[in-house]
Amino acid sequence: MIILAIETSCDDTGVSVVRVKDEKINILSNVISSQMKLHAKYGGVYPSLAKREHQKNLPVVFKKALREADNPKIDLIAVTIGHGLEPCLWVGVNFAKEVAGKLKLPVIPVNHVEAHILVNFINENLIKIRKSKFFPAVCLVVSGGHTGLILMKGIGKYRIIGETRDDAAGECFDKTARILGLGYPGGPEIAAQAAKYSIRNTKYHIQLPRPMIGQKNYDFSFSGLKTAVLYDFKNRPKKIRESKEYIQEMAFEIQQAAIDVLLKKTVKAAKDFRVKTVILGGGVSANKELRKQFKNEIKKELPNVQLLMPPPSMATDNAAMVGIAAYFNNKKRRGWQQIKALANLRIK
Ligand code: KG4
Ligand code: ZN
Repeated sequence: MIILAIETSCDDTGVSVVRVKDEKINILSNVISSQMKLHAKYGGVYPSLAKREHQKNLPVVFKKALREADNPKIDLIAVTIGHGLEPCLWVGVNFAKEVAGKLKLPVIPVNHVEAHILVNFINENLIKIRKSKFFPAVCLVVSGGHTGLILMKGIGKYRIIGETRDDAAGECFDKTARILGLGYPGGPEIAAQAAKYSIRNTKYHIQLPRPMIGQKNYDFSFSGLKTAVLYDFKNRPKKIRESKEYIQEMAFEIQQAAIDVLLKKTVKAAKDFRVKTVILGGGVSANKELRKQFKNEIKKELPNVQLLMPPPSMATDNAAMVGIAAYFNNKKRRGWQQIKALANLRIK
């Protein structure tokens, strides 16, 4: 089966061709055109601007993805319908409808969060998945638009057990990076600065809060972290707050504060629900330090639990994850006339 997948939920225009054959997933192409530079000026994504960029880029990305995959015969179209920025989602959805109409193919509507989860099965044996070898699992999805813990009893069987009450973790990185005068998206910028710092060289002894870390629920809150960064920054003399020592130490502390909370709550959920697998997903799961600390902690605290992390290049938004999610949602095939964008779609 060959799936053509489309992703335009935020600021990345993606098209991918995914082949599933002999119980194995193969990515024939995965083309992404990022609008990063465009949005860097504003420190965030402007939906109307992003929509225009998607409209301009999508036909180009589409042709490139087909060419790279050697123009195979497509069986299915997959497209992200939500959640996401409504004007952006519609660009992908309308494009999918047009292609599906022309080629007389069914469409599979894909949930963005589910795609971030299911991309983890890219290198797994599909029979093992169908036999439930991985479930129950707890999934930590951490991106720019979403942060939550999901209990997964199987493919298509999800229950949200915790969510952020305000900002998403990625959003926190993006906003604090902006305070520090770093670029957009903030996650990789914070990570790069943090990597240059060693705790032995602490100069400012910055200590940020770990919001909600001791609470019994599985919820998160990241807006207080951002406010704490802002206050610390504002109260420093200009010479200090613009120094590389301060920025590196602050970036390190921001990253560690976020990792501490995400890790503690995920491990707690994994223990409480006696899961077999912990699954990470979303742009923030590309973070090297987060991956390392999850690996170490799960090995120590939950030695029998398997940890799945997406390949870093597929942690951030891309269309291959949409194709993979579509494969697992084969039953959701629809006529193109029935497909519409749902900006507030939730996983269930
Ligand atoms: O999943 P994604 O590409 O888009 C959304 O669905 O939101 O996630 C983007 C988010 C951004 O907030 C970005 O700063 C963050 O993921 N991010 C990272 C890293 N790479 C991307 N955060 C921390 N470390 C990274 N290496
Ligand atoms: Zn995403």
